[in-house]
Amino acid sequence: MWGETDKGVLGQPLGAGAALEEEAVGKCPPQREEGAERVTVGKFPEGYFEGLTREGGSREAKPDHLARDSSRTITSFSRSFVVANTSYLGHCHRIVKGFAMCLPWVPGYVRPAVRARGVKCEAMERIVVTDVVAEARRALGERLLILAHHYQRDEIVEAADYRGDSLELSRRAAASDARWIVFCGVHFMAETAAVLAKEGQRVLIPREDAGCFLAHSIDYPSLMELWRVLSDVMDPDEEVIPVAYVNTTADVKAFVGEKGGACCTSSSAETVLRWAFSRRPRVLFVPDQYLGRNTARRLGIPEEEIVVWDPRFPDLDRERFARARLILWRGTCNVHVRFLPEDVRRVRRERPEAKVIVHPECRPEVVELADEVGSTSYIIKTVTTSPPGSVWAVGTEERLVSRLAKENPEVEVFSLAEVPPFCSYMSLTRPEDLGAILGGLLSGEERNVVEVPPEIREPARLSLERMLEITSK
Ligand code: 13P
Ligand code: SF4
Repeated sequence: MWGETDKGVLGQPLGAGAALEEEAVGKCPPQREEGAERVTVGKFPEGYFEGLTREGGSREAKPDHLARDSSRTITSFSRSFVVANTSYLGHCHRIVKGFAMCLPWVPGYVRPAVRARGVKCEAMERIVVTDVVAEARRALGERLLILAHHYQRDEIVEAADYRGDSLELSRRAAASDARWIVFCGVHFMAETAAVLAKEGQRVLIPREDAGCFLAHSIDYPSLMELWRVLSDVMDPDEEVIPVAYVNTTADVKAFVGEKGGACCTSSSAETVLRWAFSRRPRVLFVPDQYLGRNTARRLGIPEEEIVVWDPRFPDLDRERFARARLILWRGTCNVHVRFLPEDVRRVRRERPEAKVIVHPECRPEVVELADEVGSTSYIIKTVTTSPPGSVWAVGTEERLVSRLAKENPEVEVFSLAEVPPFCSYMSLTRPEDLGAILGGLLSGEERNVVEVPPEIREPARLSLERMLEITSK
C-alpha cells in the first residue's frame, strides 16, 4: 500500500516522470491507528508546484497545505519533497531519502499536527537533522558552529560540533570566529554566547522558549529591591560583592557586572566565590541557593553566617544581613530538587557497591551524602574514567544519565531517583527545530537570533569576562 498513490497531493495526476523514487532509510515503531496515516517522499516534475503560494496557520497538516508549502521549499532547496497522501504526519512507518530537503517548513505544519495527535517519530527526526546538518556544514563550512549542552536530546548532541557544560560552551563560544553560533541549550546559555560574541557574529537558538527554572527565579527589579534593603543596614557597594550563577538573564548579569561582581558556573563556583571573598567582606550569591550553600560548605563558611533572601516574603529582620557573610537568593532548579536524601539511602541499601555522584544544584542534604559532586562535564569525566565494572547512581538530568549509560557499557550507570527527572526546557529542542534554523541559514534567513541591547550587553560582558579570567588562572 505504501507509496501507491498516483495522485498528486492536490489531486492532480503526477504524470510521466513523476514516479516516486522511494528509498526507505528508516523506520518508526508502529504507533496508534495502524495504517491510518502515511508520509511518502518523492521527486515531482519541475514546475509542478509553480504558482502555488504558501498557506500557513493550519492546525492540521492537510495534504494541500503540505504541497503548497513545499513549493517554497522546492525553489530554495531541491525538488525532493514530502508527498503526503494523508491528513496528518503523526504516523510514518518509513522514512524516505530527500525528506530532509523539506525541513524548513516542517515546524509550521508537522509539529502542531504531530503534537495534536500526541505521537512522535524519532527516527524521522534523526534522519532529517542529519541530512540538513550535513548540507549546512557543506555550504557554510567554518562559518557555522553548533554547540549543545549535555542535557540536550541525543539527536541534537550528535549533530553538534561540541557538547559541554555551561563553562565549556561559554569558552567555545567566546573563542569561536564562526559567523553563526547555533546554540542548542536553554535561553540563558545562548544569551551568554551572544553577550560574549564578537562584532558581526550571530547567535541563534532553535527554541526561543527554552527557559530555565533558576533563571526565572530572579529578575532585575527584585535584585534592585534587595540592594535597597541591604542599603538600610550597610553600604552594599562597599561591603557586598554579587556573584551570579550563569543561569540568569543578561540584565541580572549586567547588574552584577556594574557592581564589580562576576558570574560563575557549577564548575567554577568555588573559584569565583573565593575570589569574591578576597575582595569584599560579604557575598550575595544568586539565584541558586543550593549551589551557593554547597559551595559555602566546601569553603568552610559556617551556617550561622549564611542567610537566605526570599523575594516573595522579604524578611523584615534586616539586621540579620549585617551579621551575614553570605546572602543567598531563594532559587532552586526544579529538576535537581527532585533528588532526595532518601534516594541516596535507598541506593546505599540496595546497591552497596554503587557510588553516588550528583550535580551541585542538588539539595545540600543530598550532596552531603554523595561520594562525588560536580558539573555535568565533571560527572561525565568521572564516570567514563572509572574502572570497568564500576557502578554509578547519578543525580542529574535524565538525558545525560541515560546517554552516559548507553555510551559506556563497561560501567553501570543509573539515575539516583526512582522517577528520573528531565529538564522540560532542555527537551524542547527537537531535531526539527535545529533543522529549521539551519534550513533558514541555507536560504539566507537568520531565524531566532538572540540579541542583547548594548546597554545590557556591556556590563553583562564584564561579569562574564571576569569569570573567564578568574577561572583561567
Ligand atoms: P553545567 O554547567 O554543570 O552543565 O550545568 C548547567 C545546568 O543548567 C545544570 O542544571
Ligand atoms: Fe535550568 Fe534546571 Fe534545566 Fe539546568 S536542569 S537548565 S538549572 S531548569
